[in-house]
Amino acid sequence: AKPTAPDVTECGLSEADDGHGNNPITLDCCPSGFGQAVDFKLPNPYSEPRKVNIRPAAHLVNNDYIQKYWKALALMKALPDSDPRSFKQQADVHCAYCNGGYHQVGLPDLDYQIHASWLFFPFHRAYLYFYEKILGKLIDDPTFKIPYWNWDHPDGMVMPEFFNIPNSPFFDPIRDQKHLPPTVMDLSYDGPTKEHNLPYNDQIAQNLTIMHRQMITNAKTRVMFLGGPFRSCDDPPSEPGSLEVQPHGTIHNWVGNPQPNTLRWEDMGNFYSAGRDPIFYSHHANVDRTWSIWKTLSHRNRDFKDKDFLNSYFYFYDENAQLVRIYVRDCLDTVKMGYDYQPMDLPWLKSRP
Ligand code: C2O
Repeated sequence: AKPTAPDVTECGLSEADDGHGNNPITLDCCPSGFGQAVDFKLPNPYSEPRKVNIRPAAHLVNNDYIQKYWKALALMKALPDSDPRSFKQQADVHCAYCNGGYHQVGLPDLDYQIHASWLFFPFHRAYLYFYEKILGKLIDDPTFKIPYWNWDHPDGMVMPEFFNIPNSPFFDPIRDQKHLPPTVMDLSYDGPTKEHNLPYNDQIAQNLTIMHRQMITNAKTRVMFLGGPFRSCDDPPSEPGSLEVQPHGTIHNWVGNPQPNTLRWEDMGNFYSAGRDPIFYSHHANVDRTWSIWKTLSHRNRDFKDKDFLNSYFYFYDENAQLVRIYVRDCLDTVKMGYDYQPMDLPWLKSRP
């Protein structure tokens, strides 16, 4: 077996539906062009002092920070659609990688997919890394870091307020209107017909118990937390890690619109459109943070040493619109990549089911 990789030279049409085969659509999510790719290099800690910048919790950021992110995102949205750094193409990255836009290198009949396997955490980490670099470049601040949606802490269990400012670049009009602030999140949300409508304290307690279960009880091995192997020549597996299913997936659906006018739970509730909602990147920043946290919970919680994992790779456009190939082995440590997360307490540690 070999590591798996997307054949980005043959990007094709992507397909989506409502998750049950209804309302199918076909769309072109391919990036606008392919230059020669360069390989991503981690900064060398011996030749340059390591700079680590901090991604803040979204519910704690001040107005200056919001203005800065506002400006960066507005500039990204103002880039022409033909620019691979435009918000349109950044969102389409998720679609191409998740809805059948790519097949595996050298294997035209085998789809490529970065969900439901050990590629889930590293792919999204790399995706956010370049998204953030582009934003930083647009405002001339290479230290700019995106905020994380701290949904594992009671203070963060609502949509961060600033995403709900109409006429801001953070706004998405087709989120589930019943779930706007101050509605408390339901981390086990299972669709509009099964709203739990629990009293505030009960909902918070239930959410903390879910976090404990997904981070600890159901996350005792690498496969249980990170997901199962995906190797070249295999069909994409369906072996998601605990956190990918819940609350990662349930939050996507909780934010997305279940109303018939959108048909497919857009934006957040469908792979192809999830990246169109700016809240996606803060949701995934917290998903990314849980990967780092998991590794601190037990000495047994380590990344795979498997070469097929370490040598898997993805392609992204960087802040200079240069195509970059990045290997999973370079995505294992956020500090080496130049960022970390604002520390917050983890009340779910004590919320045993
Ligand atoms: Cu690629 Cu949150 O999904």
